[in-house]
Amino acid sequence: MKILIKNIKELIKVEQIPRLLIKGKEMSFLETIENAFLLIENEKISDFGEMKDCPEYSGKVIDASGKMIFPSFCDSHTHIVYAGSREIEYIDKIKGLSYEEIARRGGGILNSAKLLHNTSEDDLYAQSIVRINEIIRLGTGAVEIKSGYGLNTTDELKMLRVIRRIKENCPLVVKATFLGAHAIPAQYKDKREEYVNIIINEMIPAVASEQLADYIDVFCDRGFFTVQDTDKLLDAASKYGLRPKIHANELDYSGGIQIGVKHNALSVDHLEFTGIDEIEALLNSNTMPTLLPGAAFFLGMKQPPARKMLEAGLPIALASDYNPGSSPSGNMKFIMSLACINLKMLPEEVINAVTINSAYAMGISHIVGSIAKGKIANVFITKQIPTYSFMPYTFGSNLIESVILNGKILI
Ligand code: NIG
Ligand code: FE
Repeated sequence: MKILIKNIKELIKVEQIPRLLIKGKEMSFLETIENAFLLIENEKISDFGEMKDCPEYSGKVIDASGKMIFPSFCDSHTHIVYAGSREIEYIDKIKGLSYEEIARRGGGILNSAKLLHNTSEDDLYAQSIVRINEIIRLGTGAVEIKSGYGLNTTDELKMLRVIRRIKENCPLVVKATFLGAHAIPAQYKDKREEYVNIIINEMIPAVASEQLADYIDVFCDRGFFTVQDTDKLLDAASKYGLRPKIHANELDYSGGIQIGVKHNALSVDHLEFTGIDEIEALLNSNTMPTLLPGAAFFLGMKQPPARKMLEAGLPIALASDYNPGSSPSGNMKFIMSLACINLKMLPEEVINAVTINSAYAMGISHIVGSIAKGKIANVFITKQIPTYSFMPYTFGSNLIESVILNGKILI
């Protein structure tokens, strides 16, 4: 199928020479083409440019006058496969309980694990597909999904099989991450090491033998898994070729960033507690610092020092962290707004962070994350808008009119 989109008011995030990620000062530069065309052929972007160079075509033509086209959002950190919901804890939070207090009372991740245990694989898939369809409508074209609400071999495999079904059946690009080390199950409360050994000796080999995961994650933070646990887990995972993406420094200066860098993590995520040492470690690495402003907003936590990180020359990716406990939303447009307001990032910086850099944090920035020839044709067309900054500015409005994934018009 071939589609020509013409009279595009502004084509956003074009790349003549594609790059895998954008760092520091360069993040405030966003290449666009005004009054542009975009040609899609065989699921790929085949050409783009100014309207004066637009080719003649008599097949499917879309007139995008007054509208803009963005590359689809890339969401490099989600827990979108889960059972039920946890608005009860939301009410507890409103009344003043902290995330850690809720977790200690058997709420939090363990609550989701109980719900998931009692949900069949088919039901879990059906519940998750509703959310997948929701994020597609909201402009997401690539997503990373974690396990981590199983916390035993059978249930972790159940989650990962659901993620595989999503990968097989849905039009977005999906990457799967094994997160057995998300929380310590109640029966291992005082036997954390035993649980870590089960992950190493049972879960990782089982996950690898069915090739169910692309990456491994550990919640390396105060009250969850230690740096030593993380070191052991990542060593074990590397034998199976599982590269890390780490939950780090959300609750404290946990050492999670440094241990992630030591293991050449693809990304370290959250990073509310990032100081000079952490920035220094990241500067000498290929690891993408990924900020999750939805979680910081929802939990009312301190904000990570995004400006300091950018000034030091680091890249930043942004992701939704869509999960039932700390960020029950996969709306990447709202994530852009939060990053502008709370992290003081500029619209150009957040657009780079939710596209190419978030793609890098999933290992797929060579195939998605920008408008470049040969990349997968995952884009969305906006409603009529005056400027691209209007997207993060209008934090509650859905301005996405049409969604194209793999060159097919879905919405
Ligand atoms: O990224 N920090 C750890 N895990 C999730 C929360 C998951 C949950 O509460 O269900 C997060 O915020
Ligand atoms: Fe998370």
